[in-house]
Amino acid sequence: MLVVKNLTKSFTSHSGTIMALDNVSMTIETGQFASIIGKSGSGKSTLLSMLGALDVPTSGSIEVDDIDIATLSATKQTSYRAHKIGFVFQHYNLIPNLSALENVTLALEFGGMPARLRQERAEQLLRDVGLNDDEQRRRPSRLSGGQQQRVSIARALANRPAIILADEPTGNLDSETGKKIFDLLHSLSRSENTTILAVTHDMDIAGKTDKTFRLKDGKITT
Ligand SMILES: Nc1ncnc2c1ncn2[C@@H]1O[C@H](COP(=O)(O)OP(=O)(O)O)[C@@H](O)[C@H]1O
Ligand SMILES: [Mg+2]
Repeated sequence: MLVVKNLTKSFTSHSGTIMALDNVSMTIETGQFASIIGKSGSGKSTLLSMLGALDVPTSGSIEVDDIDIATLSATKQTSYRAHKIGFVFQHYNLIPNLSALENVTLALEFGGMPARLRQERAEQLLRDVGLNDDEQRRRPSRLSGGQQQRVSIARALANRPAIILADEPTGNLDSETGKKIFDLLHSLSRSENTTILAVTHDMDIAGKTDKTFRLKDGKITT
């Protein structure tokens, strides 16, 4: 279970202080598929960064299975990111000169999987997200946007994370492909009991998730 309490994040610059997150509280059950909606600048990416321990909150707590990740040491935060979190980004963030398969085996290597086990696991993950043997051996530039996002989802799943954080995963895709990517995330949250939190602009998609949070000026409004 993911429990966020009174989470605040402010950024200070020469032009003043911005409250990117203002007293946000939310709960997501293990295995739930939740969406976040809100206008540009409302704090969606900041919230995902905090949940993924990519940045530190100004105040408040983030409990993942009863451990407050906001107060972990830097070393433990790195370990939390590597073992508990999978990230999916709008621009896929694949390594361009590695094949789809190598992008996934690299993630498995970072996760500490022995070399002899990586290839088979990566092939299975890529098959699960819908890439055939030929496609698995192509570089990202020779795959469609939807296929690249499938690779990035396989990579996010590589080390069996408890939570997948997806920041506008369909932002660069046409709406038909975007729906398929969301369906894929949905079925994964069911089959792997993975908690998924995804930012989206598509109200159709948000309406189909288990729970929707709306952010406005750093505050949750629903
Ligand atoms: N590193 C940063 N430094 C200063 N301001 C930031 C930083 N990151 C985000 N912000 C500000 O915080 C607010 C929320 O940003 P963000 O979380 O990126 O919104 P969203 O993802 O909903 O578009 C915006 O006003 C943005 O300019
Ligand atoms: Mg954003």
